[in-house]
Amino acid sequence: MPTVSMTVNGKAVSGDVEGRTLLVDFLREDLRLTGTHVGCDTSQCGACVVHVNGEAVKACTMFAAEADGAEVGTIEGQANADGSLNVIQQAFQDHHGLQCGFCTPGMVMSAAALLKENPKPSEAEVREYLEGNICRCTGYHNIVKAIMAASGQDVAIAAE
Ligand code: FES
Ligand code: FES
Repeated sequence: MPTVSMTVNGKAVSGDVEGRTLLVDFLREDLRLTGTHVGCDTSQCGACVVHVNGEAVKACTMFAAEADGAEVGTIEGQANADGSLNVIQQAFQDHHGLQCGFCTPGMVMSAAALLKENPKPSEAEVREYLEGNICRCTGYHNIVKAIMAASGQDVAIAAE
């Protein structure tokens, strides 16, 4: 079995994987980073979104071997250094951007990638960016509000 090595949340890790092992399974099963969720088997839900070399990636669409040598970020690495919620996580809490919470890690990771490339997105841009993330509770409105708030913009502009 090939050995893969990568940096996950700033820590060097390695493991033996089969060629078909998905990155999401490596993270969840081998590294026990279970905050990255699996919500479908069709690459549609976005519950598995992580960062690979700074880009939002659905971890169910990538083999672990393809992430060899990469910098990977998961929801477990998103909190501030003192353990407090980061600005996006805090905004989700403040604006009720989660219901069951299953989609939330993927939403937060997608939001972080969006705000990195577009720090002041319009509401329409937020909604478009989240197209690959499904919330089965249909809590999108508050999720969008949370992301707008995290970007420092007036949440009142988000449509009801
Ligand atoms: S588990 Fe990856 S998109 Fe659904
Ligand atoms: S909060 Fe339940 S699926 Fe999104």
